Amino acid sequence: MSNSQQDKLNHLNELRQQAIEGGGPEKTAKIHEKGRLTARERIHLLLDEGSFQETGVFVRHRSHEMGIDKNRPLGDGMVTGVGRVDGRQVYVFAQDFTVFGGSMSEANANKICRLMDQALENGCPVIGLNDSGGARIQEGVRSLAGYAEIFWRNTMASGVIPQISAILGPCAGGAVYSPAITDFTLMVDQTSYMFVTGPNVIKMVTNEDVTFEELGGANTHSTKSGVSHFMAASDQDCLLMTRRLLSFMPQNNLEDPPRIVPNDKPDRRETKLNDIVPDDNKKPYDMLEVIRLIVDEGDFMEVQPRHAQNIICGFARLDGQVVGIVANQPKFQAGVLDIPSSIKGARFVRTCDCFNIPLVVFEDVPGFLPGTDQEYGGIIKHGAKLLFAFCEATVPKLTVITRKAYGGAYDVMNSKHIRADWNVAWPGSELAVMGSEGAVNILYRNQIAASKDPDAERKKLIDEYDETYANPYIAAGLGYLDDVIEPAETRSQLILALGHLSNKKQTLPPKKHGNIPL
Ligand code: HXC
Repeated sequence: MSNSQQDKLNHLNELRQQAIEGGGPEKTAKIHEKGRLTARERIHLLLDEGSFQETGVFVRHRSHEMGIDKNRPLGDGMVTGVGRVDGRQVYVFAQDFTVFGGSMSEANANKICRLMDQALENGCPVIGLNDSGGARIQEGVRSLAGYAEIFWRNTMASGVIPQISAILGPCAGGAVYSPAITDFTLMVDQTSYMFVTGPNVIKMVTNEDVTFEELGGANTHSTKSGVSHFMAASDQDCLLMTRRLLSFMPQNNLEDPPRIVPNDKPDRRETKLNDIVPDDNKKPYDMLEVIRLIVDEGDFMEVQPRHAQNIICGFARLDGQVVGIVANQPKFQAGVLDIPSSIKGARFVRTCDCFNIPLVVFEDVPGFLPGTDQEYGGIIKHGAKLLFAFCEATVPKLTVITRKAYGGAYDVMNSKHIRADWNVAWPGSELAVMGSEGAVNILYRNQIAASKDPDAERKKLIDEYDETYANPYIAAGLGYLDDVIEPAETRSQLILALGHLSNKKQTLPPKKHGNIPL
């Protein structure tokens, strides 16, 4: 090689090294001290070994305000590119906090937009690794424009390709809205936070004292607000969770999620299920245990596991096929439907429906939660979200009633009448307008009051009601249930039904879009 060629190569290598170093070793050490990783370390952990091809490596900002033109780092604090997760192509962007605090510039917004356009054209997921001080202050409205370009693309890509946001540091102000539009948000305990306005502004406006962690930490968003779908213990944990989550997703809305060869027999009987439901219908049991006994190898990835725990949502496989599970949890508030659980359930149902993931419902629901809090908070419109989502879903829809299916909640929870494909109940199930005590008190209040022994009279009437209504056979006789099954056979029956629905095609009337009650 000639000297001149060698010089050019050396120059290229120097530039590449500069780009890789980002803000330099000091700043890198600072974020390591805080328990965080760099953008490139994160990408390395997320993707299959050696699969990453970077784009926009040498992009620099073109700003000059406030002396920023004296510092024009290569890559401009944003690492973008394409790689593979379990051999499947994904597009990734990662904000580099060592460069201007990972702040959003016009140049790096352009890099993300280009990446998102390519992801859509190629029908592949986009994963954003967020760690940023927000809009680059020096660039003013140009940075805000960059954000808006991203929000628009997030919206256009919604329901077409899976979009996943990992929050691995700060995410504040309007910047939170990109993750909020994407399908899933993951946060890391103690090192990430999200809020629209921070503690200082809150102190000025409302005089409240709140810490960063209390206001917008992973714990807060995984419990109170439900903004975060998954909480990880560290960056490493978060990136592994992202890989696992992707294993349940198709590449895009025209494909099915990948099917695997399971290590579990499709006809496995699970006799424990025959007495998992207590005889006393007021006693709780753990629906998570029911789910784990039924799905392949007990492997269940729960979504929002600590938010609205009266409903369980998550991904599992049945004979290797990905399913989305929605289940009432009798262990929390008796599995009642309220505002947070309706919203959580509705969002999950829609996520599954847009990505061709069949829905499996395990139902044990005493109804909607009564109370002024609920009514004033709009349980009518929020409960309607869950109903709307199930009505609209066209993926295979299966329901197993394990115990109670009372009132409006019976209709909402994927009943036959809203076009569920396969509905069955366990033998001890009760499908009724309400529980026996409530019904008897309404229907026979005067009769009970007039009786010489009101307690005995009430008990007699309750027993009569239970015998008449508290069983699955009236509904089965009307064709509202396809069968009443032995609980031990639930897995094999679900797998058979899923197989029969594998070519299901259902369409909605042509329209611009439905008007889900938001
Ligand atoms: C330019 C920024 C920046 C920003 C941080 N930096 N945020 N540069 N624009 N938004 C720079 C810092 O000047 C510093 O540069 C380096 O990044 C690291 O920041 P530190 O403050 O030293 O880090 P740390 O102590 O960890 O604190 C992180 C932080 C803080 C809490 C994020 O930097 C911060 O409060 N930044 C501003 C956050 C903010 O208000 N952003 C605007 C939000 S509104 P040097 O050279 O010293 O290393 C918004 C609107 C979006 O984003 C709208 C979308 C529609």
